[in-house]
Formats: sequence, C-alpha cells, structure tokens
Amino acid sequence: MSSREKRWSLEGLTALVTGGTKGIGYAIVEELAGLGATIHTCARNEVDLNDCLSQWGKKGFKVTGSVCDVVSKTQREELINKVSSLFDGKLNILTRWHRCSSSNEHCVSLDQDPPWHCSVYKQCGN
Ligand SMILES: NC(=O)c1ccc[n+]([C@@H]2O[C@H](COP(=O)([O-])OP(=O)(O)OC[C@H]3O[C@@H](n4cnc5c(N)ncnc54)[C@H](OP(=O)(O)O)[C@@H]3O)[C@@H](O)[C@H]2O)c1
Repeated sequence: MSSREKRWSLEGLTALVTGGTKGIGYAIVEELAGLGATIHTCARNEVDLNDCLSQWGKKGFKVTGSVCDVVSKTQREELINKVSSLFDGKLNILTRWHRCSSSNEHCVSLDQDPPWHCSVYKQCGN
C-alpha cells in the first residue's frame, strides 16, 4: 500500500450508515467500504437490503445490515445493540441518510433529548 493509500485508508474503522440501500446513503456505504471501513447499514425494505448486501459481498466489502425502521424507538434500540455487539463497542463513524417525513413525525422522533446520534455513541462506547 502506498503512503497516499495509507493516508486515506479507513481499514480498522467502523461505521453505521442508516438508509444505506438507496441514494446518498448507498453511495456513502460504497465509498467508506471501498476505503476499507467495516460498515453496518439499515433500511426498512428487507429485499432491497439483501440485494445490496449481496452486491457488496461480491465486491469484497465488509458490510452487514439490519432491517430497521428508525422511527421506531424499539427498532432503533435493537439496531444500536446490534451495532454495539458487532463492533465490540467501538463506533468510529455515524451517518444518517434516511429521509425525514414532511409531516416532521420522523424528525421529531429522531431529534429527541438526548439526540439520537448521542445515544448511539453512548451505547456504542465512544
Ligand atoms: N438525493 C439527493 O440529491 C439529496 C440532496 C440533499 C439532501 N438529501 C437528503 O438525503 C437523505 C437521503 O435522500 P436520498 O434521496 O439520497 O435517499 P432515498 O432514496 O430517500 O433513500 C433513503 C434511504 O433511507 C432508507 N430509509 C428511509 N426511511 C427510513 C426509515 N424510517 N428507517 C430506516 N431507513 C429508512 C431507505 O430505505 P427503505 O425505504 O427500505 O427504508 C433508503 O435506503 C434525505 O434526508 C434527503 O432529504 C438528498
């Protein structure tokens, strides 16, 4: 590996990318995985998720996934527990790419006190 490649490598780092099966989230998974990160992603549609996981597996990317609707507190907690267990309590990167609904219902549930991303970091040991 050249020094330039080493500088940009994410080898050994972990990431949670919500909404990774489409759009920007999908592109972020591809980019981070291409740089060597180990990723967990989620989406609601299991067929889409399995399709993406299969494509990423063929590319040699280290990506796992959960079916999860992040609007649901119970499902968010399950996701956090899964990520904490998979990554042994070490989460380096968190990106949220699920769409907030125009009714604001999703945004409100995600922007509670403490904010969702804080509880992810707290529970995943960062
Ligand atoms: N695309 C753009 O040009 C653009 C520009 C600026 C900002 N944004 C913002 O970026 C975000 C993503 O937009 P996008 O157009 O790139 O993607 P998108 O096509 O809306 O896909 C969103 C991703 O999030 C997942 N998702 C949606 N709701 C979810 C939920 N409740 N729980 C878990 N996963 C959920 C979707 O899978 P499932 O449907 O299977 O759950 C999918 O993987 C949005 O917030 C959007 O406003 C996008």
